[in-house]
Parts: sequence; structure tokens; C-alpha cells
Amino acid sequence: MVTIKNPFVVGSYISPEYFCGRKHETQLLVKHVENGRNVAMIAPRRLGKTGLIWHFLQLPEIKSQYYTLFVDLYSTSSLPEMVRSLAMEVYRNLQSNTERWWERFATVISSLNMNIAADPITGTPSLSIGLGQIKSPEVTLDQIFKYLETADRPCIVAIDEFQQIANYKEKNVEAMLRTRIQQCSNTHFIYSGSKRHMMVQMFNSPSRPFYQSCINMSLDTLPVEEYISFAQRMFETQDKKVKREVVEKVYSDFEGVTWYMQMMMNELFAMTGRGETCNMDYYQIALENVVFSQKQIYDEIFSVMPHKQKMLLEAIAREGKVLQVTSGAFVRKHSLLSASSVQSSLKGLLEKDIVTQTDGGYQLYDYFMAYYLNKRC
Ligand SMILES: Nc1ncnc2c1ncn2[C@@H]1O[C@H](COP(=O)(O)OP(=O)(O)OP(=O)(O)O)[C@@H](O)[C@H]1O
Ligand SMILES: [Mg+2]
Repeated sequence: MVTIKNPFVVGSYISPEYFCGRKHETQLLVKHVENGRNVAMIAPRRLGKTGLIWHFLQLPEIKSQYYTLFVDLYSTSSLPEMVRSLAMEVYRNLQSNTERWWERFATVISSLNMNIAADPITGTPSLSIGLGQIKSPEVTLDQIFKYLETADRPCIVAIDEFQQIANYKEKNVEAMLRTRIQQCSNTHFIYSGSKRHMMVQMFNSPSRPFYQSCINMSLDTLPVEEYISFAQRMFETQDKKVKREVVEKVYSDFEGVTWYMQMMMNELFAMTGRGETCNMDYYQIALENVVFSQKQIYDEIFSVMPHKQKMLLEAIAREGKVLQVTSGAFVRKHSLLSASSVQSSLKGLLEKDIVTQTDGGYQLYDYFMAYYLNKRC
């Protein structure tokens, strides 16, 4: 078991001890994969898609039966970059017990012209792939899939921020990938992404190559009681306590969205000494501390934002949720220029993922940013 200073993890997945619930969703992933179904995980931002995938991939029954791969496409903008990420991940995770296994890797993925030699001291070779080495990405992709398909165990490839492939400069990536994936029988795929609209289009629109190619899986907020028990248990691991009402307020203020809750609980935990109980007096200070820690990021975002978008953003932050941003009443109340200028600013804010549309109307994605804007203006 890994022991860490603060059990409220706000970055990458650490281990099951610090992960709250998601038993049903994890078992659902096991069931889908064991029954040969590929999965598309589509859920709002910051709820815990990536965390859930890591949690699933580390299960003993999965690790012992499959080679598990995780590729994050967030920062990729072209096919060669995707191919490189995949090749590196295959190399890191498909290291079999056979002697000089890497020679097979270099032989099968011949298009990369790799020259892998074992480190004279450790015996294991290390690999780096320059983008310039990927001269024919489609050929390399075929070879990677061949390597996966002929592995001595089935493979699970989780591709995070999958919607990114729709933005690649090459135009046929979706269809090209779909064709290859369709031919796989030894390899299972889990796709997930944070851009809901794009993911829904990719998987649920009949004109798109990935239409009906997998099971859709959504993710809800963690149940409130489960999160309260988890939070209290985490405090107790280090001889601290937290009042139930504090966790309830965190849950309700951040509408159960995991990352925001974890950020708050992480700060509340840090503020509470051993043997102490965290009560409501800590709440406001914790909130200000967290918002302050994000200030530089927000200031950078605002510094490059067109003036009209800033005006609209402040107006939405003040209201919390707005059903009709182009309504005369809203435009007048916040002295915005006109319905048409609001419309174009809204488009920009939605594209940048700063504003989102939910059943309750338009709101800022980031609860801390909304608080910061309200305090500032
Ligand atoms: N079940 C959980 N228990 C505890 N912490 C969690 C849980 N799920 C996610 N987290 C934490 O919450 C944060 C957000 O989770 P994660 O990054 O998985 O969300 P996401 O849906 O992938 O977000 P994005 O849409 O931005 O990619 C992470 O810091 C993660 O460690
Ligand atoms: Mg994610």
C-alpha cells in the first residue's frame, strides 16, 4: 500500500485506497471487456473518467489476464503523434519474459527503423521515437496492431481524450482507425473524452465511422453518502476528523463534481492538524486558498480573452446559471452589447470549454473560476 501525506488525490490515480466508490462502474468495465465489447465513456468534465480507467486497469484480475495500455491523446494534433504515443505504450507494456523480446518488437514494427540495443548494465533497452522516424504512420499503425494481435495475452488499449483525433490535420483518421480496430480480436478498446459534444457526435451519429461500434458508458456524480463516508475515512487515516456537514457543503456547492470536491477536501485536510476536527469555520478559508492557488491560471486566460467574451463571462458568473443568454432581460441587466454579440461571444466561450450548457442552462465549467470572478467584480 502506498502511503501519502494527503489522501485526497487531485492529480493522477494513485491506488485503490484513495479512490472513492465506483464499484459498479468498474465491474461494468470488466464485464464489457470480458465480453469482447469496446466501450466509449462519455461524461461531463472532471467527474472522474480518467481515474476510473486507471482504477479498472490496475485490478488484479485485469492485470493478470491482459496487457494494459493507456494512451492520452490530449496534447496530440496529428496522426504521427498518436502513432508514436501508441508505439511507446506498446513498448513499455508488452515486455514479455522471452529473452530479447525487443528484437521482435523492432522486427514487427519495422517501419520505424529502430535500432534497439540492450543497455550493457541493466540489460533492458530503452526506446525513444522521434516524430521524423514515423514516415508512413498508417503502415506503422498496421504493424502496431499486428503486434498487439499476436501478443501472448489479450490487450486492453484505453485511449483518453479520444475526440482529439477529429482535430488532426489528416482528414481520414476516424475511418482509418475504425477499419483497423474492427479487425482486432485480441485487443479491446476503451475510449474516453472530456469534450462531450464531440464524443457524442463521433459515437452516436450515423454518418461517423465509429457509430454503433461500441457500448456507451456514462458516469454520474459519486453518491453523496459514499463520498461523505470516504472523506471521513480518509481523515481518520491520519488521526483527524471532519464534520459531516462540511463534506455535505462541499458536495452541494460543487454539485458532486469530483475534482472540485477533491480540491476542497485536500485543502481542508491540509488545514486540519492531527487530533483536530475540521468544522465549518475552515470552509471559507479553504475555498479562498484553493481559488488563490488557481489565480495565475485564470489571469492568464482572461488576459488573452476578447473584451466581449469577458463581459459575458462575468455576467454568467454573477448569475450562476443562465437559461437564455440572448434574452433581452439578461442582455439589459448586465449591460451587454446586443443579443448577436452575446451569441458570438458564447460560441467562443463554449469552444474554449470555459462555459458549458447543462439542463439548468449555461454556466461556467470551473466553479472556482466563477467564485474568483464574483469576488473580483
Ligand atoms: N472515485 C474517485 N475517488 C477519489 N478521487 C477521484 C475519483 N475519481 C476521480 N478522482 C480525482 O478527481 C480528479 C478528476 O478526475 P479525472 O481526472 O479522472 O476526471 P476526468 O473526468 O477524466 O476529467 P477531464 O474531463 O478533465 O479529463 C482527479 O484528481 C482524480 O484523482
Ligand atoms: Mg480525463
